Amino acid sequence: MPKLSVSNLLGIDELKASDIKTIFETADHFKEVINRPIKKVPTLRDTTIANVFFENSTRTRISFELAEKRLSADTVNFSASSSSLKKGETLLDTINNILAMKVDMLVVRHASSGACHFLSQKIGATIINAGDGTHEHPTQALLDTYSILKEKGSVRGQKVAIIGDILHSRVALSNIFALKKLGAEVMVCGPNTLIPRYIELLGVRKETNVQKALEWCDVANVLRIQLERQKSRAFPSLREYSLYYGIKKEMIDALDKEILIMHPGPINRGVEIDSDVADSDQSIILDQVENGVAIRMAVLYLLAPTLKKN
Ligand code: CP
Repeated sequence: MPKLSVSNLLGIDELKASDIKTIFETADHFKEVINRPIKKVPTLRDTTIANVFFENSTRTRISFELAEKRLSADTVNFSASSSSLKKGETLLDTINNILAMKVDMLVVRHASSGACHFLSQKIGATIINAGDGTHEHPTQALLDTYSILKEKGSVRGQKVAIIGDILHSRVALSNIFALKKLGAEVMVCGPNTLIPRYIELLGVRKETNVQKALEWCDVANVLRIQLERQKSRAFPSLREYSLYYGIKKEMIDALDKEILIMHPGPINRGVEIDSDVADSDQSIILDQVENGVAIRMAVLYLLAPTLKKN
């Protein structure tokens, strides 16, 4: 039986390279399953999973819900905007009330960095972090690195440039951890005001010129500007950001090689990436989304309480 070294998925930082490889091998099996005419397996029958989202989401929430349904789990969805949080209930009370209804696993998204770690110290149920503040978004990084593996045959030795708002991005940090653990070379690129100080201590390169980053890399993972998390203005206007840091077709055409274009979504077309790049043959943005379901099925399966007991 394949097993992970962790009992919750709180971040990529806590995973071993062997855990990531186990998740990828399991995802290969589920990728085949979801491409069958009958996409459902009974693996998590009698397991109840709550998707507890305190922040907006399209891809991650639907992807987890589909992954759970494909595994035959019972699922419930919690959305903060229609909950009793509005009446003053705390995060922990909310979670304990959901767990009292015999829920086995929680998929949690929260605007506060560390919310999932906090909950893991207070409750016994399995927790999967679906994005916590500016900290980590582990399943996004797993599906991103898995997508690189599927396209390139190997992650080791690939040069990956993460371009955009690195400072406010949980996707960037989780990707850096996953890519480094699997032997890729990583560069972050953006205006200095959107790159954390001392980022090089994580073993990554730093570049402020986008064309140079594109010339260096094999894969460009483009991030949106996360205005909802910016406390002060990091650049004068979106128009200027787009002018200097937006990925345009002529920049890609000027390269003497074909690079892979990725984006975790949601895309702000015409800001960090132009439509003719996002929709080009080099773009694997929708493959990332497809792979996300298989990756989340693998994570749910490997962390399910029934498997942990065996
Ligand atoms: N990539 C991602 O986390 O997208 P959502 O915010 O739509 O879930």
